[in-house]
Amino acid sequence: MTTEIKHHTIEDIAGGAIPRHIAVIMDGNGRWATAKGMARLAGHHAGVEALDEVLETIKAIGTKYFTVYAFSTENWRRPADEVNGLMHLLVEYLDKKIAKLHAEGVCVRVIGDRSGLSERVRQKVENAYALTKDNDAVIFNIALNYGGRQEIVHAARQLAQACAAGEMNWQDIDEDAFAAHLDTAGQPDPDLLIRSSGELRLSNFMLWQVAYSEIWITDTLWPDFRAGDLFDAVFAFQKRDRRFGGLKK
Ligand code: FPP
Repeated sequence: MTTEIKHHTIEDIAGGAIPRHIAVIMDGNGRWATAKGMARLAGHHAGVEALDEVLETIKAIGTKYFTVYAFSTENWRRPADEVNGLMHLLVEYLDKKIAKLHAEGVCVRVIGDRSGLSERVRQKVENAYALTKDNDAVIFNIALNYGGRQEIVHAARQLAQACAAGEMNWQDIDEDAFAAHLDTAGQPDPDLLIRSSGELRLSNFMLWQVAYSEIWITDTLWPDFRAGDLFDAVFAFQKRDRRFGGLKK
């Protein structure tokens, strides 16, 4: 017998603080598929359905920045058919959804090292951004070939270059200058970081940006994640006492 989980609803979170930026580690696609006797890629396909519903819900609750971890710099270590399948899934996602996302005012950006992507994928993500860059209902960051350490090293190199070229003094390197060289420049840090499938780690995701994010982890595998799970996460977020290292007011 399965026990029905009672999730929170949009009414439960109305009136409370809504996170400005939600970031999600969409984990558990492979386990979901394996448990059903399906190929891992079927789990990633099902993961896109979960993503669709969560993005709709993000819009409904008024969260303005939404970041998802679609492919890490470490994911290249997976078998070629899974890597190719994931890249194909992203291209298919953009082909099918970009017009609707644009009509809804979603700005679709990719964070991560685009130089490591195939020409086809790079073109697709650049076209998606070119079409939607002026939209501001939701800023939707897809982390693709993304690694938090790599992003930090990249920012450090850019600052070092600017100093070497005499464009800035090393004394002017502060947190704001550093953040301005990250892929998320100009965006607020995530207030809430969600990870599905119960793993208790950051997996090299947004290492700089999650310094003060509230973390919410669920055992639910990503393909099963739905609006109710997002409401649960936001409800839990609203109960947190965010002190940013200070004392309770
Ligand atoms: C982690 O699950 C998930 C991924 C590596 C890929 C996530 C991608 C999607 C949900 C779909 C593609 C994204 C877009 C934006 C179209 P896992 O495979 O590591 O699961 P496991 O830990 O159970 O093996």
